Amino acid sequence: MSNHPHSGALQGPIGVFDSGLGGLTVASAVAAALPGADMIYLGDTARVPYGNRSPATVVRYARNNVAFLKTFDVSLVVVACNTVSAHALGGLADGDLTPIIGVIRPGARAAIEASAGGPIAVLGTRGTVKSNAYLQAVHELDPRREVIQIPCPLFVPLVEEGWADHAVTRTVAESYLAPLAGSGVDTVILGCTHYPLLTATLRQTVDEILGPHVALVDSATAVAQAVRQMLGPQPGIGQRRFFVTDEPSRTADVGARFWAGQEADRDEIEFEHVDVEVAT
Ligand code: DGL
Repeated sequence: MSNHPHSGALQGPIGVFDSGLGGLTVASAVAAALPGADMIYLGDTARVPYGNRSPATVVRYARNNVAFLKTFDVSLVVVACNTVSAHALGGLADGDLTPIIGVIRPGARAAIEASAGGPIAVLGTRGTVKSNAYLQAVHELDPRREVIQIPCPLFVPLVEEGWADHAVTRTVAESYLAPLAGSGVDTVILGCTHYPLLTATLRQTVDEILGPHVALVDSATAVAQAVRQMLGPQPGIGQRRFFVTDEPSRTADVGARFWAGQEADRDEIEFEHVDVEVAT
């Protein structure tokens, strides 16, 4: 990925996809950074979650999703899913020149920038942690940096259930983060699209276990900045379409929360249905 505005003309909407609705945290950050940009979002809600699936399955699903987005002549594809970014990014280009940006490298870079040099903790799905993608991305920038990875498989269903601030979620967070006590970790990467909704709970837990000086890094903001650097300001009117692969009415509440925050109204965004295996 280039750190400079692309030399050729990048035209067309920005394509964004995730295994489900969590990627709306990334899409929303991209929309805030580039309000004029047109956008096509795809959430593969019929096949979510990807986090516990094999790399081969994740690659197959991701290729369907990219092919669907390309039917809109997107200028670039944002892989707004840590699990796909971890397993499949290299295999998605498909011979054409559409740039594809994942969330892992921007997240790792943001963590290095936020850190004072201490160990970095990565919270993610089982698949993301097992892939070591964040570990490698941090080590590309700082080969000696200690990285502690923690799989947090219960966080995704808790967020989807709307339990981001629930006592059960606080207990789960305490249990996952307890091994970090005394580690000296000064930065925690929220390495999953769902985790920005847990920021309040994680902030409290991190304060208790590690202290208030510890930075929480959210790859949504980092990837939005990377997209902005690549495309430059967009002159459009910010036309956006949101597709899901399962029945749309089931997703409206959760989707609105990912897009606009905990208090969002379910009419905040409208979802259209698509079957990506048929559409491509
Ligand atoms: N979008 C996934 C990620 O960022 C989380 C949900 C899932 O497991 O599919 O890793």
